[in-house]
Amino acid sequence: MTRVLYPGSFDPVHNGHVELVETASRLFDEVVVGTLMNPSKGGGLFTLEERMELLDECFAHLDNVRTTMFDGLVVALATEVEADFIVKGLRAVSDFEAELQMAQTNLAISGVHTLFLPTASRRSFLASGLIREVSRLGGDVSEMVPEPVRLRLAEKAGA
Ligand code: PNS
Repeated sequence: MTRVLYPGSFDPVHNGHVELVETASRLFDEVVVGTLMNPSKGGGLFTLEERMELLDECFAHLDNVRTTMFDGLVVALATEVEADFIVKGLRAVSDFEAELQMAQTNLAISGVHTLFLPTASRRSFLASGLIREVSRLGGDVSEMVPEPVRLRLAEKAGA
């Protein structure tokens, strides 16, 4: 049985993340989607609890996917959930350098390898930060995020 951890900040989860989890759920026996703080991104729009609620709604249709949240190192979460591998998505070559460095750091400190899955090109422009900005300024994000996320973004924008 192979269990993988898909970590991210998911602030909020978007259709590129959904595609990756759907692919991973076909490739591996179990997928744990873990939402963590990205120390370089500040506090964010959604709390970790809100991000996890949205992840739960977005992945309710996948039996072998579960979600969790964690405050700490991604490799500590990988150990806690007994993941065999970490999986990450690559949208474009611009993601590669930072992701490779994180993968190599995580391997060095834990022995856990990271597997990369490419994002379909039609979703490679998706980024949570831009989605937050478009929504905050009244733009339409319905092609970029699942419906529960669109609704929560609209609530935040109207608040
Ligand atoms: O969705 P993101 O923002 O690209 O996810 C980045 C994330 C949360 C996976 C990364 O910031 C992370 O691993 N955070 C936990 C702290 C950690 O383990 N840092 C060392 C990374 S080599």
